Amino acid sequence: MASIIGVGIPFGLSSPPHALKTSTRVGGVATQFSHSTRRMVAVKAEVGGINPEIRKSEDKVVDSVVVTELAKPVTPYCRCWRSGTFPLCDGSHVKHNKATGDNVGPLLLKK
Ligand code: FES
Repeated sequence: MASIIGVGIPFGLSSPPHALKTSTRVGGVATQFSHSTRRMVAVKAEVGGINPEIRKSEDKVVDSVVVTELAKPVTPYCRCWRSGTFPLCDGSHVKHNKATGDNVGPLLLKK
């Protein structure tokens, strides 16, 4: 059984988004907000989640990075949850992509 773990996450805003005003009513309160209509995703995960083994004893895996303190001009961070050096990318996404047909890759943080 699959579950929805995230909906409507805008990303890839390197070019101006096509903003869309949306009105909604939550708990009897009308709200209005803008959001991008580009590259919205819905993520579904199988029971057990997308994280196969990284820091499973933690309630939630959260990492913080002070970008100005990065050692290298470009630092790749893992988004496939398969890296042996998580949260850094070690290239394990290549093996994962070949095995599954997926297309995940790292987040590149640049100084
Ligand atoms: S190892 Fe996970 S994105 Fe590269």
